[in-house]
Amino acid sequence: MTLAMSGHVALVTGGAGGLGRSISTALADAGATVLVGYRTSAEAAHALAAQLPGVAGQPHRAVECDVSDSDGLRELASRVAAEFGGLDVLVNCAGMTRYVAHRALDELDDELIDQIFTTNVRGAIASVRAFQSLLAQHGRGLVVNISSIAAQTAMGSNIAYCASKAAVDNLTKSLARALSPEIRVVSVSPGLVDTEFVRGLDEAWRAEQTARTPLQRLAMPDEVATAVVVLATQLTFTTGAVIPIDGGRPLG
Ligand SMILES: NC(=O)c1ccc[n+]([C@@H]2O[C@H](COP(=O)([O-])OP(=O)(O)OC[C@H]3O[C@@H](n4cnc5c(N)ncnc54)[C@H](OP(=O)(O)O)[C@@H]3O)[C@@H](O)[C@H]2O)c1
Repeated sequence: MTLAMSGHVALVTGGAGGLGRSISTALADAGATVLVGYRTSAEAAHALAAQLPGVAGQPHRAVECDVSDSDGLRELASRVAAEFGGLDVLVNCAGMTRYVAHRALDELDDELIDQIFTTNVRGAIASVRAFQSLLAQHGRGLVVNISSIAAQTAMGSNIAYCASKAAVDNLTKSLARALSPEIRVVSVSPGLVDTEFVRGLDEAWRAEQTARTPLQRLAMPDEVATAVVVLATQLTFTTGAVIPIDGGRPLG
């Protein structure tokens, strides 16, 4: 059976994380060969790659991919070029944050700010830079930046995280312009997603977020993953856009 993404190769950075796992699975379900990027979660990434759906012999892989290591990204791109000859989809899903109340600026130290921007912003640019020529190869490249509602609402785990996601949405636009027409670049912007991390947060706070969301629930990881697949397979005239998956939370 030929699926919509048969013959396509996709790299998901942070591919074994809460959202990355769903995105990797949805891309494999659509027929793509998936490279599950990991930094520290090697075991989880290898286990996921081994169990992803696909035709017999399809080489889903777990690949070490630290987005703060630009040389490592270039080396990975060389290996992908040698083995697959191109890359069709790059999902910049790697991201990091830590909760710091917005008023508690003294707790938002330089080290944390640098880590957030190095991973969430520089990491996304460095990944696109490393894979640009591979993405352009077949004239149908797609970059999906996993952003956040925090970019728009300035509500999120800390001020630097919100600013980093606003930067991601901005670079989606400039990269979309700069890399067209061979490569499309789109942000997928979830509200709170029902992941393990979010389930561990204060219950009263989660309940309040749900109550303030017009659709009265959190996003499911599968809904974010579906957006990525739809962008790759259906919304083929979309670039430079920010696609919200947030149940209308900014209206609440
Ligand atoms: N969960 C939500 O409610 C929500 C809402 C909006 C947006 N988002 C965004 O969705 C993305 C995924 O978040 P998540 O909820 O799935 O969080 P998560 O489970 O903590 O996953 C984060 C992933 O990022 C990877 N990562 C961190 N630093 C990295 C680096 N330097 N290089 C490569 N990978 C790195 C981690 O890889 P290792 O484990 O291998 O180190 C992990 O797989 C993030 O960009 C986040 O900002 C999440």
